Amino acid sequence: MDNINKWNADKYNKHADFVSNLAFPVLELLNPQENENILDLGCGDGTLAAEIIKCKSKVIAVDLSDSMVEKTKERGIEAFVMSATQLTFVNEFDAVFSNAVLHWVKDADASIKEISKSLNDNGRFIAEFGGYGNIKFLTDAMQEVFNRHEEFGNFNNPWIFPKDSEYKQLLQDNGFNVEYIELIPRPTKIDDIRNWLDIFANGIISHLTKEQQNQFKEEVRAILKPKIYSKKDGWVADYVRLRLKAYKTKNSKKE
Ligand code: BEZ
Repeated sequence: MDNINKWNADKYNKHADFVSNLAFPVLELLNPQENENILDLGCGDGTLAAEIIKCKSKVIAVDLSDSMVEKTKERGIEAFVMSATQLTFVNEFDAVFSNAVLHWVKDADASIKEISKSLNDNGRFIAEFGGYGNIKFLTDAMQEVFNRHEEFGNFNNPWIFPKDSEYKQLLQDNGFNVEYIELIPRPTKIDDIRNWLDIFANGIISHLTKEQQNQFKEEVRAILKPKIYSKKDGWVADYVRLRLKAYKTKNSKKE
């Protein structure tokens, strides 16, 4: 089943700017230095790569979405369409930075191996993405609507939200020295949940008719409204971030 999310750079810009607006703590953790070579893995529309370049670092940006890569290039940033599990770099970067992307990569071990291969010895890996418990209200609601409608088929959850202990072990197994890793609950204000579903969950329902897709969104919205909507705060999604800083050690396997 084609479960691939389609990214619309304009919708993303209009309704999902919170993704980069809330990324300043992880940029601080990166602490880019002048002349460092930095890979922005999953650059989206290039907002954060543009921030990193302000520190006079040299940035290469990659993303799986060609429309996002185009937006990034429009900012004058060198950018390529590339998958986190098939990076073409070898010992090239002082740091690999990734925000709000790695929960889309089901094979976490493969992406960690590729990140390690891309880094110089002692290079650092700084990332933040959805961790254990992330958007549980949302995924439970999606599952419930699929359960109600046999004709929709199975709910094919495209995300991984690992525990800090699990991800730390994976990093260590791949020769990283983990300086910091933490799960951080971060309730996040979003636009109407329909916009969130349009931007981030369109792959889950791409096999359905337009009418069924509409029904899915309306039913998910109705389940979630009493749980994550209030007049005072609007829609607030139950985000949990996994934030980390790790160093590639000399013992990292070269595969
Ligand atoms: C997240 O950033 O946690 C996220 C965004 C879209 C879909 C799933 C998770």
